[in-house]
Amino acid sequence: MLTTVTSSTPPSPVRAAFFGASLPRRGDQVDGDRARGRASEREVVAPAASAMASASSEFATSGGEHSDAPSSPRVQQSAGLLIVIDGPAGAGKSTVAQRVAEHYGVPLLDTGAIYRTVALVARRVGVAWDDEAALARLVGAFPIEFKPALVAGERPRVFYDGEEVSREIRTPEISDGASRVSAVPAVRAGLLAIQRALGARSCVAEGRDMGTIVFPDAIHKFFLTASLDARARRRHEELTQKGRDVDFERVRLEVAERDERDTQRATAPLARAPDAVLVDSSELPIDEVVRRIIETVERRRGAG
Ligand code: DC
Repeated sequence: MLTTVTSSTPPSPVRAAFFGASLPRRGDQVDGDRARGRASEREVVAPAASAMASASSEFATSGGEHSDAPSSPRVQQSAGLLIVIDGPAGAGKSTVAQRVAEHYGVPLLDTGAIYRTVALVARRVGVAWDDEAALARLVGAFPIEFKPALVAGERPRVFYDGEEVSREIRTPEISDGASRVSAVPAVRAGLLAIQRALGARSCVAEGRDMGTIVFPDAIHKFFLTASLDARARRRHEELTQKGRDVDFERVRLEVAERDERDTQRATAPLARAPDAVLVDSSELPIDEVVRRIIETVERRRGAG
């Protein structure tokens, strides 16, 4: 049953959970071969976003470049292995993040899926994608869970209030809605607590503002990008493979428009953190991108 959002909806604890194949605890040395395939189940329960916001003064401030960013709850950030990968749509981020997560045997935190679920649930309960007050109430109690994919190599499954929504959040309409709700400041602020709770244990976190806002203290930060042409080409191929007959120029324009919206929005725009390693995938096969990221992580872990 979906929550009906009304003005009287009280803030309640947010259950944000990973049911991962393996979730190493803080400080664990992550050994991909050892950890992979272990069927354990752990859950992270985050306080309601509103409670988090009111408690934020207890946490150290991030000192990041975005002065409007809520303070960073360092105690919530992963002391295990946290790898963050940001970048625009079509740079191969999802595939790369998934592969890196598999390599280390840690869950993938697909934050785009969280924004997509907000858009879906808002649509179902009749909340407009730009109704900031109602969206704020919606994300104040947002029972989202991730479970491992049934098929290896696929994205984690997404559940809202116990119901699987993995497929529904991938429609073109919900992609558009996700892009719209993600531009609403109260949504971004409300989802911070959930994302940080999920990232409090080892994971690969993928999104647009992982390195700048959500996990500014992460050690392993990557910004994966590719030229507009390369990204449009990949998107066009993907659609063609799905049997859709679409014009390349139109796809290119859509990718450019989405870039514009993601990079120009006032709150948490897509941006490379100053300390993120830039990886340009325009001319690189996915295998090579994955190899470079793992090599960089290993070098840093060895040096630490
Ligand atoms: O990565 P994706 O296409 O599933 O993301 C869906 C939308 O959510 C996209 O418009 C960008 C937005 N998003 C965001 O603003 N911040 C994130 N951390 C992740 C996604």
